[in-house]
Amino acid sequence: MTNLNILTILSLLFISYSYTSVEIENNVRKCPCKYSDSCDIIPLQKDKKIIIGFMTDLGYSFFRFYEMYKLTTVFLPLNDTEFLQDFLCYAHEQKVSVLLRVDPTLKVVLNNSLHRQWAQETIKTVQDRYLDGINFDFQSPLDFDHASYYTSLVNYTCTNLRVANKEYQCSLNMPWSGDCIDGRCYNVYSIAEVVDYIVILSFDVQDDEDGPPCYARANSPFYQGLGAVVVYVEAGLALKQVVVALPWYGYMYDCLSVDKSNLCTIKERTSEPYCSDRVGKKMTYNDFVSLINNPKANVTSHWNSTYMSPYLMIYNGDSIQQGWYDNPMSLSFKINAVKQMELGGIGVYNMDCLSYIDDMQVREMWNTLDLIN
Ligand SMILES: *[C@@H]1O[C@H](CO)[C@@H](O)[C@H](O)[C@H]1NC(C)=O
Ligand SMILES: *[C@@H]1O[C@H](CO)[C@@H](O)[C@H](O)[C@H]1NC(C)=O
Ligand SMILES: *[C@@H]1O[C@H](CO)[C@@H](O)[C@H](O)[C@H]1NC(C)=O
Ligand SMILES: *[C@@H]1O[C@H](CO)[C@@H](O)[C@H](O)[C@H]1NC(C)=O
Ligand SMILES: *[C@@H]1O[C@H](CO)[C@@H](O)[C@H](O)[C@H]1NC(C)=O
Repeated sequence: MTNLNILTILSLLFISYSYTSVEIENNVRKCPCKYSDSCDIIPLQKDKKIIIGFMTDLGYSFFRFYEMYKLTTVFLPLNDTEFLQDFLCYAHEQKVSVLLRVDPTLKVVLNNSLHRQWAQETIKTVQDRYLDGINFDFQSPLDFDHASYYTSLVNYTCTNLRVANKEYQCSLNMPWSGDCIDGRCYNVYSIAEVVDYIVILSFDVQDDEDGPPCYARANSPFYQGLGAVVVYVEAGLALKQVVVALPWYGYMYDCLSVDKSNLCTIKERTSEPYCSDRVGKKMTYNDFVSLINNPKANVTSHWNSTYMSPYLMIYNGDSIQQGWYDNPMSLSFKINAVKQMELGGIGVYNMDCLSYIDDMQVREMWNTLDLIN
């Protein structure tokens, strides 16, 4: 055997070896969807209004009933452990972006030397699942002196995500008010520089109220909610960077007393915030509709023009309850206002608050999203 032959054989071996290794690599990364282009990244469409659907784990059993074509983006459930690749394929077939929703722990946020590892793991999850980016939804309180740690984690992660692929999206959720509400402080202006857009969760507004006495109030009051959005814009957010998420759920409260104008006094908490929606019971839009449609429930429906929100009263013997929620009418007012303010778009929190066998409910709620365009 000549040297040449040995070299040829070796090179063939080498080629076949490297071929095998690429093959293995390809097998691991093989697109799991029916159509291979469903694994392509769906980038942010800059010329369109953003329309986001928040999802919960429940959604994995009926996502095919979502009116997906009305959305630009879905945020996966927080700390998603049930992730279903079929869902990603389905969303991508309809050119809807799917973002990984993450809540980093306080321990990670406050330790700069943990940022790198956290970012790498998170970016790897985005890549492995063929997702389109990250949605930051840090839920822990963070005082103003420590707000820059979060900015730095978001900056590091989003910068590296874009290095992995410049089409990936980075977004971040903030509570209804930028005023360190619920002890959550943000460097709004700096964060806006590093993310594509900010989603303002315009609900759970009750927490802000100083009291006692405490009263049942709207979950997403029109003027207060949108007023707080204006404050965010004044803090340096570009209009197009602001997306307003609205609730498809509400709260039911037990009234300690009710006056003639239906003002319902509720229990106060023993620690701050003394007046909070946490004393109420969270209920989905479908829960409210079911109550209203139940002739045995003794429900009366009302409208409060201060909040531009519907509410209902339930009298049952000596007990009185008041429930606050959003319906197509209250959502339409807010979505029209978001449009007039020329903000970046809207979101729905969350898509799984409906009964998808109730066609009318589904149609009426999803149709409100059309008002943004
Ligand atoms: C998500 O996970 C983090 C860390 O494990 C945890 O602190 C946080 O409470 C979780 N959030 C939810 C909504 O489960
Ligand atoms: C930050 O994380 C590093 C790496 O895990 C660790 O060695 C260090 O003790 C942590 N610092 C603090 C203040 O917890
Ligand atoms: C983001 O990080 C880069 C690199 O460390 C830095 O130059 C930039 O100022 C940071 N941006 C913000 C808004 O913190
Ligand atoms: C709406 O409800 C709030 C609190 O429940 C109350 O203060 C306000 O007066 C109500 N507005 C009207 C027009 O009844
Ligand atoms: C039903 O509600 C009305 C007020 O809307 C109240 O007067 C009546 O007592 C309630 N009926 C029962 C059975 O609780």
